Amino acid sequence: MRTELGGAAEGPITGPSGFVGSGDLYRSTDWRRRPALLRAALSASELAVLGPDRLIEILARLTGMRVFVARARRTGVSQASFVPRPASVEVFRRLVTNDGRFTVLMNGVERVDPVVAAVQEAVGVPHRWRADDVVVTYSSPGSGIGYHAGHEDGFIVQAAGQRLWRVWDSDEVDAEARRRLILNQPDDIYPLQRSMSPPVLECELAPGDVLYLPPFAPHEGTTIERSISIALGWRGVAFYHLVLGFPGLVSPPDSLAPEDVDPLFDLLPDADPEAGAMGITSSVAAILTGLEDRGCLVTDRARLSDRLATLLCSVSQPVP
Ligand SMILES: [Fe+2]
Repeated sequence: MRTELGGAAEGPITGPSGFVGSGDLYRSTDWRRRPALLRAALSASELAVLGPDRLIEILARLTGMRVFVARARRTGVSQASFVPRPASVEVFRRLVTNDGRFTVLMNGVERVDPVVAAVQEAVGVPHRWRADDVVVTYSSPGSGIGYHAGHEDGFIVQAAGQRLWRVWDSDEVDAEARRRLILNQPDDIYPLQRSMSPPVLECELAPGDVLYLPPFAPHEGTTIERSISIALGWRGVAFYHLVLGFPGLVSPPDSLAPEDVDPLFDLLPDADPEAGAMGITSSVAAILTGLEDRGCLVTDRARLSDRLATLLCSVSQPVP
């Protein structure tokens, strides 16, 4: 039987934007080091508002969605497509009433849905200048986008249904793969080699559960029961980005041999939020030393320090 779903409209979704969760999940994690499972960390009843009807409303306000359709069991992703609006709304309606295996990704949902924006706030990550857009995923049983990794620090919040997650250690991703991930080069150019080691964490997420993924930790989600999840990411910014972003203030190392260049793809250290202005100052100093240790020439230390301090304090400035 066809399920009737809500209609489409323009503008942000109105309504309550507060979110009662335990908050401050950031402090509950071994940030950047280990994956963590945080059971019942957010209110399942408040997340329940994110049903298919709500996703239709969200889609009507977004530019479109990415759809992954799996061909057969165990084959993972066989086809991915981008569906622009307004067609995305109708395609989504059809998928919801379909028994096939599919995953739908919606980017930038925090811009149009106050509940999703409130979830991003509730996790309490202070490094706002690295905040990425929020992705909501709707998926059917047996589906997933396969084994992959990214440069982001990420939280996966389960809003509805159930999903099995396997997470591997970040060390499973070698220097070449890290560089590709930092450069956002697609997997079809350099497929990530699947680890032969067992995962360091395997868990089933239920509504309200949250999974923390450190940068470069390979992970794989498989849906058990129709699932809606929220992926919150904080972009990994590498020394490489500073060389690229501030050409008058810092120059790359003379040698371009891989062993000299690879350390440029290490991530910048985060400022300690507890230390306030002192934390920013020591983080800037650590970054400048890090650049020099990697063979870069810092040509205008004072201006670069200023720019870095502004970035680390910023809540809205983009990655250089
Ligand atoms: Fe992922």
